[in-house]
Amino acid sequence: MTSSEIRTRFLTFFEKRGHAILPSVSLITNDDPKTTNATLFNTAGMQPLVPFLMGETHPDGKRLASSQKCVRTGDLEEVGDNTHATFFEMLGNWSLGDYFKREAITWSWEFLTDTTEGLGLDPHRLYVTVFAGNDMVERDDEAVQIWKEFIPEHRIYYRDSKDNWWTAGPNSPAGPSTEMFYDMTGHLGDLSPKEFEQADEQQQLVEIWNDVFMAYRQEGGEVVGQLPQKNVDTGAGLERVTAVMQGTTNIFDTDLFLPLLNIIKEHAGSYNDRDARIIADHIKTAVFLINDGVVISNTGRGYVLRRILRRAYQSLESIECSESIISQLIHAVIEMYRDLYFKDVNEKQIAVKIKIVATEMDKIIKIIKRGVAIFKKIKDDPNTIITGKFLMDLEQTHGLPLQISQKLAKQFGIQISDQALAECEQLRTEHQALSRQGAEQKFKGGLEKDTPKIRALHTATHLMLAGLRKELGPDVHQKGSNITEERSRFDFTYGEKVPEEVLRRVEQYVNDAIATNAKMGVQLMAKDKAKNSDVVGSFWEKYPDTVKVWTISDKSGNIYSRELCGGPHVEELSEIAQFGMFKITKEESSSAGVRRIKAVLE
Ligand code: SER
Repeated sequence: MTSSEIRTRFLTFFEKRGHAILPSVSLITNDDPKTTNATLFNTAGMQPLVPFLMGETHPDGKRLASSQKCVRTGDLEEVGDNTHATFFEMLGNWSLGDYFKREAITWSWEFLTDTTEGLGLDPHRLYVTVFAGNDMVERDDEAVQIWKEFIPEHRIYYRDSKDNWWTAGPNSPAGPSTEMFYDMTGHLGDLSPKEFEQADEQQQLVEIWNDVFMAYRQEGGEVVGQLPQKNVDTGAGLERVTAVMQGTTNIFDTDLFLPLLNIIKEHAGSYNDRDARIIADHIKTAVFLINDGVVISNTGRGYVLRRILRRAYQSLESIECSESIISQLIHAVIEMYRDLYFKDVNEKQIAVKIKIVATEMDKIIKIIKRGVAIFKKIKDDPNTIITGKFLMDLEQTHGLPLQISQKLAKQFGIQISDQALAECEQLRTEHQALSRQGAEQKFKGGLEKDTPKIRALHTATHLMLAGLRKELGPDVHQKGSNITEERSRFDFTYGEKVPEEVLRRVEQYVNDAIATNAKMGVQLMAKDKAKNSDVVGSFWEKYPDTVKVWTISDKSGNIYSRELCGGPHVEELSEIAQFGMFKITKEESSSAGVRRIKAVLE
């Protein structure tokens, strides 16, 4: 069965069972942290459906199905093994408060095993896992009861929330899941729980479908209650299902990758599977990202694109393959997926994509040339000692990845000590930890977690900064912020103690604004434009090229605050008023030129 037949069979199967078929949406998420948990790309078929899983009415009804393009870069290092790719398609069916466990499980089983309408897989090669329960949600015995009608009980395994609890992020609909596994070897037979885990680890089993019983709501990573409706969210990776149907043990020896691998094989000086798979996957992902409008840059989505292209280049190098095959690969990707995703893409548009990729490849080639010059110089001056810091600088200042530095050193007969390598790794870990912390801070806006009270304090803190600037002048800038359920702590630039009466006026400013029940509006804006207008912001450099500008304004158009922020905020200021009045409880020195305020709602 071809991948395209599998896709069609899946959609037809669910269409027959009353599901509306949705087209795949863009890979680019809609930038609303409430629904995407700040992921850069759609990472699951359910992601565009979050508002509807939360209770909004979907125009196409309560039963939906789709084949959604997805990009996941969390497992980047694993791409090239048997089952991981950055680009994949997810087949899924959804019930928005309509059917629940019985239908979901029955239909999954039918689609997998039925020979006329489904895939006709051998039932003896299937296994399932169910949620083992935790202190918040009980063991899923209901799912077990239903599964027992299809599969012997000893082939049903219990797993905890690490595997069988699904959520799109800390603030998301969530629920226990049941997963279906297929025996890739054909001879595993009955397995004890321990043997099952081992077989999974050794990739003898492959997870092919996940049914999530999405009935809960998570905030800040914790279950905070039930959703207004009980939903079903399922996802089956088309690549994995195709591998199973085409009788291979990996997703790459399928019609979803072979046309690309064949081109690579033909041109490689020294072929190996792993590098060839990386090239095929990454070029495919790049084409899809560019097609959905991602522009190469040093931040956000554009940086992901840059990174995968650089990795693709390294793999091309490593199998001695000229980058002139890029054009062939891009054409091949477009032809493979033409009917579905590139119907109207013409030669001229393909040429633009090729140019984008080629230009980025040229950049990395230039970087490597610079690297060659640097290592040549080192060779000529044998007194130079290569330290970890030196290697890290090459990476950060010259963009030369460590892997390439190592290769060049070898080429020039220069030793890199283990100590230098270890030191470089250490520096990298520290750097990554810092930037991750930065990214998390940016998303959370210094929020401890996301609760209604913390949102309220967060929005009130924006008003407070506006009030401080009004009283003390435009040199007042945010230096830091940390918000918990109890209080907002806010650091800002100002050289001396803020007089008591000024603090009272700032409080008044905040409370007056809240009393107007003004609205909080959010707008996406090009960073440069925001910077040049009257938007207040600090840490501009930490933000992506497109930023969120939050404006608090009342009905008559008075603006109380206009600030750059990663959210989340209240929608209306009445959501603040329910927690009481805004009060500054403390003002003190934080460090030279920086003051610290603590404020509460009470
Ligand atoms: N959202 C679940 C997953 O991605 C099921 O679709 O696995």
